[in-house]
Amino acid sequence: MNNLLARLKSIPLPEQEKQPAVAGHLVRVVGLTLEARGLQVALGDRCSIETLQGRMFAEVVGFSGEIIYLMPTEQLQGVMPGARVTPCADLSTFPFGDHLLGRVIDGMGEPIDGMGPLTAPQAVKWSARRMNPMARRPIREPLDVGVRAINGLLTIGKGQRMGLFAGSGVGKSVLLGMMTRGTAADIVVVGLIGERGREVKEFIDDILGPQGRARAVVVAAPADASPLMRLKGCETTLQIAEYFRDQGRNVLLLMDSLTRYAMAQREIALAVGEPPATKGYPPSVFSKLPALVERAGNGSENQGSITAVFTVLVEGDDLQDPIADSARAILDGHIVLSRQLADAGHYPAIDVEKSISRVMPAVVSPEQMVMARTIRQCLATYNQNQELVAIGAYQQGSDPRIDQAIMIKPHIDEYTQQDMRAVIPYQQSLDGLKQLSLLLIQDAQNKIAALQQGAAAQQNATPVPGNKDQAGAGAGGQARPAVKMSFKRKG
Ligand SMILES: Nc1ncnc2c1ncn2[C@@H]1O[C@H](COP(=O)(O)OP(=O)(O)O)[C@@H](O)[C@H]1O
Ligand SMILES: [Mg+2]
Repeated sequence: MNNLLARLKSIPLPEQEKQPAVAGHLVRVVGLTLEARGLQVALGDRCSIETLQGRMFAEVVGFSGEIIYLMPTEQLQGVMPGARVTPCADLSTFPFGDHLLGRVIDGMGEPIDGMGPLTAPQAVKWSARRMNPMARRPIREPLDVGVRAINGLLTIGKGQRMGLFAGSGVGKSVLLGMMTRGTAADIVVVGLIGERGREVKEFIDDILGPQGRARAVVVAAPADASPLMRLKGCETTLQIAEYFRDQGRNVLLLMDSLTRYAMAQREIALAVGEPPATKGYPPSVFSKLPALVERAGNGSENQGSITAVFTVLVEGDDLQDPIADSARAILDGHIVLSRQLADAGHYPAIDVEKSISRVMPAVVSPEQMVMARTIRQCLATYNQNQELVAIGAYQQGSDPRIDQAIMIKPHIDEYTQQDMRAVIPYQQSLDGLKQLSLLLIQDAQNKIAALQQGAAAQQNATPVPGNKDQAGAGAGGQARPAVKMSFKRKG
C-alpha cells in the first residue's frame, strides 16, 4: 500500500506541469548580456535571477545551442557566477483603465510617482496585435493640437503618424508639452524614452503641469534604464494607447524619442551577436521601427484613433542618419524644428518650408489647402531671396512675388510663433490663416489699383517724346509705366 502511495505521488499532476519546468544557472556575463545554461524557456520569457541583493528580473532575448541569452530589465548588481535562474510565471496582464490618467509608470508598467500601486477592477492581457490594414478607418478628420503653426499650415489628421525631427535643445519637449495641454484628443499617452532623468521630472512638473497631466499617462524609461527597459517603455506606451483606442477614445501618443528606441534595440541586438549593418545598426532595428510605428493609427469602425508624434533626433542637416531616413519613409509626414529659428528666439522653431503633413489634403477644406500652400510659397520665395534682400541687392518692385513675400514675412513669423503657455484652438488658427490671406489679397488689390490709376493718368497725359522715364518703361508693356518702379536688379 505504501509502495502504491509513493508511486502515485511520483506521478506529476497537470498543475505541477505548469510550474517553471527547469531552472538553470548563469555561466557567463558580458556587458549587459547574461548567458545561462539548463533553462527551458522561449524568447521573450521573463526569468528571475538570484543575486546578492535579492531577485533580479531578466528577459530571454536569444539563444545559441544550449546557451540562453538574457537581458536584465534593471541594473546589473550582485550577480555571482552560477547564480540560479528561474523562469517566472506569465506576467502578461496589466491593470489598464482610466485610473492610469495622471500617473507615471516605468517601462515595465510599475508606478514610479509615489502615488501607490495601480489598481483596477480587471487586468487585461498584454498583447501586440497586428491590425488588418483593411479594417482601419481612413484618416478623414483633423486633430486640434493647440499649436497654431501646426493647426493651420501642417494640419495633423486623427490617426496620422508624424515625425518631429530636431536636434537637442531646440524645443521638442516644450512643443510636445504644448500639444499635451492644447489637444482636443481625449487622452494623451507620453513615452519618455532615453531622456536624462532630470528631464523626465522637468517635463512632468514644469512642461506638462497639473493641467496636462490630468488626462495624460506618462511612461518614463530614462537613459540610465537598461536597454530592455527602454525598449519595453516604447511598447508599454503603445500598449496603453491601444487599450484606450479600443475603448473608442481618440488618443494622442507622443514618443520622445524614436531614435532612442532604435538605439536600445541596437544595444540588445549587438549584444546577442547580430551583425551591424547600416552605421552600426543591425537589420532588426529597421524591421522593429515600422512594426512599432504601424501600431499607431486609426482603429476599425467602432474604435477610436491613435494619432502619434514620434521625435527623431537629427544633428545639423544630417540626412544620412539611417534612423531619420527610415523614419521619414514610414511616417505620414514630419515637422522639422530648426536650430536657426530657435537661436533667433522664434518658438516653436518649426521650419514650415521643410515640414510636411502628407494627409493634410484629406483632412482640411480646399480653401485651407490653398491658403496654406500660398503661405508656404511666400516663405520659400522669401528664403530663396533672403540674402539678396539682406545685402541690399534687391530693389523693391523688381519682382512682384518677392515684394509680396517681403511684405507678408513678418506676419507669417507672428503667426507661427506662440508662447509656450498659450493654447490656440483649430478655428482660431484657421481665422489667423484667413487674415494672412486677406493681407495678400489686399496687397494685390492695392497694386492693381495703383496700376489702374497709373494707366488712367497716362491716358490723360500727352506723351512727351523726350521723356526718358516713360520711353524706357513703354517698352516693357502697357501697364508698367504707371508704377514708378525699376524692374531690374541693382548692381
Ligand atoms: N515655445 C517656446 N517658448 C519659449 N521658449 C521655448 C519654447 N520652446 C522651447 N523653448 C526654450 O528652448 C529650451 C529647450 O527646449 P526643450 O523642449 O527642452 O528642447 P529639447 O527637448 O529639444 O531638447 C527651453 O528650455 C526653452 O527655454
Ligand atoms: Mg527634450
